[in-house]
Amino acid sequence: MHSFRTVSDIRIEPGGTARLDAHVAGLPRNKRIAIVTDKGVRSLGLLDAGLAALKDAGYQVMVFDEVVADPPEDVVISGAEAVQQFGAGLVIGFGGGSPMDTAKIIAFLADNETTLPEIYGVDVAQGPRLPLLLIPTTSGTGSEVTNVAVITTGKGSKNAVVSDPLYADRVLLDADLTLGLPGHITAATGIDAMVHAIEAYTSIHRKNPISDALGLSALRKLTHAISRAVNTPADIEAREDMLIGAMLAGQAFSNAPVGAVHGLAYPLGGFFHVPHGLSNSLVMVEVMKFNAQEERAKRWYSEIARDLGVGDSPSALIDEILRLQDETRVQRRLRDVNINADAIPMMADDAILKDRVLRNNPRSMTRADIVKIYETIA
Ligand SMILES: NC(=O)c1ccc[n+]([C@@H]2O[C@H](COP(=O)([O-])OP(=O)(O)OC[C@H]3O[C@@H](n4cnc5c(N)ncnc54)[C@H](O)[C@@H]3O)[C@@H](O)[C@H]2O)c1
Ligand SMILES: [Fe+2]
Repeated sequence: MHSFRTVSDIRIEPGGTARLDAHVAGLPRNKRIAIVTDKGVRSLGLLDAGLAALKDAGYQVMVFDEVVADPPEDVVISGAEAVQQFGAGLVIGFGGGSPMDTAKIIAFLADNETTLPEIYGVDVAQGPRLPLLLIPTTSGTGSEVTNVAVITTGKGSKNAVVSDPLYADRVLLDADLTLGLPGHITAATGIDAMVHAIEAYTSIHRKNPISDALGLSALRKLTHAISRAVNTPADIEAREDMLIGAMLAGQAFSNAPVGAVHGLAYPLGGFFHVPHGLSNSLVMVEVMKFNAQEERAKRWYSEIARDLGVGDSPSALIDEILRLQDETRVQRRLRDVNINADAIPMMADDAILKDRVLRNNPRSMTRADIVKIYETIA
């Protein structure tokens, strides 16, 4: 049996943020709207036209802009309290994965008696949540269409809430918001999206025909657009392909969950604040080489390579990834992001606990395998 879920209302409109009043229509429970974002996004003015449109339409708007990358628990909890006090009838998550993940949890906690530590895990968070609209400003996480929120816990480890109430009510994809995304963030977040598509295609428990189709079409868009988006940033077609590709990859992995690339990437973000996409990029090639020794992974990587027209083998796919990493100038080694080899045992101790994702990987991994992979990229 296969099953597939996604957000049922997805709108694609470059410049659509300026018509935010039209895009919220039918969602809010009252005339009060809370927008969850971060200071970087806010200071770029990306939200200004949307705020003006909501105010003109008679909404009272509260902006919670305390989100930081790899959102920690205390920020999420204080955001939920502020939104509850404000009496919001709609939550809008506006930004990259960090603000969108935070918005999902805020919308849930503000409408429930539960606390954050009680809802970690798969299908644990159940019950109502405030209406939720998500608007991505990076082309990476696909968080706008996933039922996942990744939170950094007190000890610097990452934990996730994975449950269907986290699917948003509506998504707006406005590629204009991504035109000013700096090259290094475009590259790292875009590679995150590629990893989502590849890991969905090779996910052993819930791989399904719909995720397969979405993953392949995501990769076709992302691999063709990523270098252009990084090297000619104003190319709106490339920006739109990146945004749509990241969303398609999000739909794929929300149903066929990610594997060991993410498992090994999480400690880099949790302990060392390496951006999520860059963490994935650093570990992906070595994890894929490790996986390719297993027959089914070999077959699946070869299918992806054929679909992209780059060859017929795992090494053809890996070469294509290396080419794109070169063209987008992402860092390659742990030392490039100031992670010392001394940290490898601690990172491996943390990664091996990420059973939620490691269990989906096409080849099972021991702690010793993880140490070896980190050592190869040290
Ligand atoms: N929920 C999911 O399904 C899912 C999937 C993958 C990753 N994640 C999580 O998402 C987070 C990473 O999200 P992300 O990679 O989108 O980055 P992010 O949201 O952390 O943002 C990174 C930086 O980019 C800036 N930024 C965002 N949009 C911009 C724009 N248009 N122009 C200029 N700067 C901009 C932000 O201000 C921030 O400084 C991590 O916490 C990760 O664990 C969640
Ligand atoms: Fe990711």
